[in-house]
Amino acid sequence: MYKGKARAHTNIALIKYWGKADKEFIIPMNNSLSLTLDAFYTETMVTFSETFTQDTFYLDGARQDEKNTKKVSQFLDLVRSLAQKDLFATVESQNFVPTAAGLASSASGLSALAGACNAALELNLSDQDLSRLARRGSGSACRSIYGGFVEWEKGQDDASSFAKVVPSDQWEDDLAMIFILINDQQKDVSSRDGMERTVETSVFYDGWLKTSPIDLQTAKEAIAEKDFEKLGTVTEANGLKMHGTTLGATPPFTYWSPESLTAMNRVREIRQMGLPCYFTMDAGPNVKVLCQKKDVKQILEQLEQSFNKEQLTCAFSGPGLEYLETDVTA
Ligand code: DP6
Repeated sequence: MYKGKARAHTNIALIKYWGKADKEFIIPMNNSLSLTLDAFYTETMVTFSETFTQDTFYLDGARQDEKNTKKVSQFLDLVRSLAQKDLFATVESQNFVPTAAGLASSASGLSALAGACNAALELNLSDQDLSRLARRGSGSACRSIYGGFVEWEKGQDDASSFAKVVPSDQWEDDLAMIFILINDQQKDVSSRDGMERTVETSVFYDGWLKTSPIDLQTAKEAIAEKDFEKLGTVTEANGLKMHGTTLGATPPFTYWSPESLTAMNRVREIRQMGLPCYFTMDAGPNVKVLCQKKDVKQILEQLEQSFNKEQLTCAFSGPGLEYLETDVTA
């Protein structure tokens, strides 16, 4: 029996990953840059055993159906071939998200699973190789191997596409991200399907490809200069641009709901009041607000005028992958 357990935190991209150059290996079209957060994480235990006759997947204590188990099994297949061990596994995952937040993410899930497998099968993968492995499960997961600011270098193949820490002199410790929960339902168009449709059909995708490297450069400069306004401005612009591409797809789609627009407008108003804050959104209607730790209290007070307290969660910079236990009794 081979058992391993790991914890990984979610990350939110400031410069988005949006589009794959290679769907099988999950090689992205553009580099992305994220902030790993403390408030949302996944703990996963994996047990490989000769006695199992199939893979089984439990999420928050509930046994998952064939469809959800299949995704996990496909990832386990990669691990089995790496380890050259033909053993079925039981995967038990727990998502830690503040009550009703509904913000469970594939980034923390797949990086925790990669870490748990690394421990269980004693693969001794370097962080770089672990990032490459997590990437095969879900692109954004490759960034959750590390804490703080992280860049995913697109590379050009399986060997060269992985994430790495962006030097920041711990500036991330001064920052915060407030989540405005608009809706905790499953999204209509998954990020995987949404980015595929965009790459294949959006008339605006060229603009995305041309300008996201410039946005990335600006974000990295802002981090090096600890210039919050610069980082926030490019974060907001890059997110809006990503969402713009979905409107030019066939058929067109959007992740925004009316409440998302309300939230974005509130953020702009709060900024105009002199409190620096900037929004970003991913493949769903929830809005995330990047701000400085010192302003969190005042920004929350403002947001509470438009949203319930339960809709608001504050997160700070979080750590990279953590190993929790390993037990190998061959
Ligand atoms: C909008 O990593 O979920 O959150 O690689 O297909 O699993 P797959 O997609 P996923 O996409 C994340 C897209 C995004 C932007 C980002 O996190 O960079």
